[in-house]
Amino acid sequence: MNQANTLFLTWHFPPKNNPHSQFNQLTYYFRTRMNDTSRKRIIIWLLCGCFLVFAMVVIGGITRLTGSGLSITEWNVIMGAVPPLNDHEWNDAFVKYQQTPQFHKLNYDFTLSEFKEIFFWEYLHRLIGRLIGIVFLLPFLYFYFTKQLDKAMIGKSIMLFLLGGLQGFLGWFMVKSGLTERTSVSHYRLAIHLVAAFITFAFTLWFALELIYRDEKRNPVLEKKHLPILRVLFVIVIMQIIYGAFVAGLHAGKFANTFPMMDDEWVPSGIASDGPWWKNLFENPVTIQFIHRVMAILVLLLIGWFWTTSDRKMMTPSQRRGINFLLIAVAVQFLLGVFTLLSKVEILLASFHQVGAFMLFSSVIFLLFQFRREKEIA
Ligand code: HEM
Repeated sequence: MNQANTLFLTWHFPPKNNPHSQFNQLTYYFRTRMNDTSRKRIIIWLLCGCFLVFAMVVIGGITRLTGSGLSITEWNVIMGAVPPLNDHEWNDAFVKYQQTPQFHKLNYDFTLSEFKEIFFWEYLHRLIGRLIGIVFLLPFLYFYFTKQLDKAMIGKSIMLFLLGGLQGFLGWFMVKSGLTERTSVSHYRLAIHLVAAFITFAFTLWFALELIYRDEKRNPVLEKKHLPILRVLFVIVIMQIIYGAFVAGLHAGKFANTFPMMDDEWVPSGIASDGPWWKNLFENPVTIQFIHRVMAILVLLLIGWFWTTSDRKMMTPSQRRGINFLLIAVAVQFLLGVFTLLSKVEILLASFHQVGAFMLFSSVIFLLFQFRREKEIA
């Protein structure tokens, strides 16, 4: 019998009751080798997903910054993938845009070619959204039908689909808020859409990290010490991202373009100008910019303190890399925020500031994973 025939027989008809047979040893070798290959493939699949979600957030930011977000007034998951292809279809899309309050109040002098420019970014943003759907679905079906996913992985993949679907819905929910009366979208809906994207990213990354670091040993003493601080940091960074979206959504970066003072004041006088007082925390652009600045300083100090007091010598190389990256990420993000403000929200700087938020958030997730408790390991 030649080797190929032997393999075929051992794979499909493994002999029972003899674990030491040459047949069973061979099948064991090939099955584990295959498991390892599947693991690598699944990791690549998940990391591609992470990259696409990241790209989606960056393009989403550019879409908003170029004022393109309300240029497509319809929601059609399948047919919307095809852009207007001839003059007639372009005119049709432009006429629909001319019904929006944004066109009436802001862009009433737009020509068709100007419309095509803003259409491009929103179209690209939605196209990547569709691509994410395909990139998640097709490999999932392949892995599922070739039995390369265990029960827990199937559950997590389904969770990813739910998050992706929710994100698509939230995007449309946000766009809708700018199509009837307002000239821009609701800052609350912008924040929900942004945070949901970060959460989807975190979930995908965590899933990938579980597979990447499956066999790494860690120091349980450090976990007990560092995990509570990282949890607090996670909450503050999420709050900071929400307030960043509020600053962006209310165009609150267009005034008080000085740092560290807000014009000539440490605490701006308009901070409590709206009533009732608590409404200022959510809707007053002056207060929102102030909170975003103060929280940025808090995040910077917390991470600086965490870095200096942490036991880096006792850490694994991955933990050490993570904590060093965290420190760099917060310093860069802080500076990008200041320059974005000083430039009165120049598009390139504001886009980098969003990339910086992603890097900072990713390093917090990476560290939460690296210092997670043993029972949290899948
Ligand atoms: C250190 C942590 C910081 C984080 C995590 C952070 C995060 C964010 C996020 C997520 C956004 C929304 C981006 C978007 O939706 O396009 C944003 C916007 C903004 N941030 Fe920050 N930020 C930080 C620090 C700062 C600092 C120190 C300043 C200035 C003093 C600043 C000024 C701004 C401004 C002006 C915007 C609005 C940009 C726009 O309109 O697109 N940020 N921030």
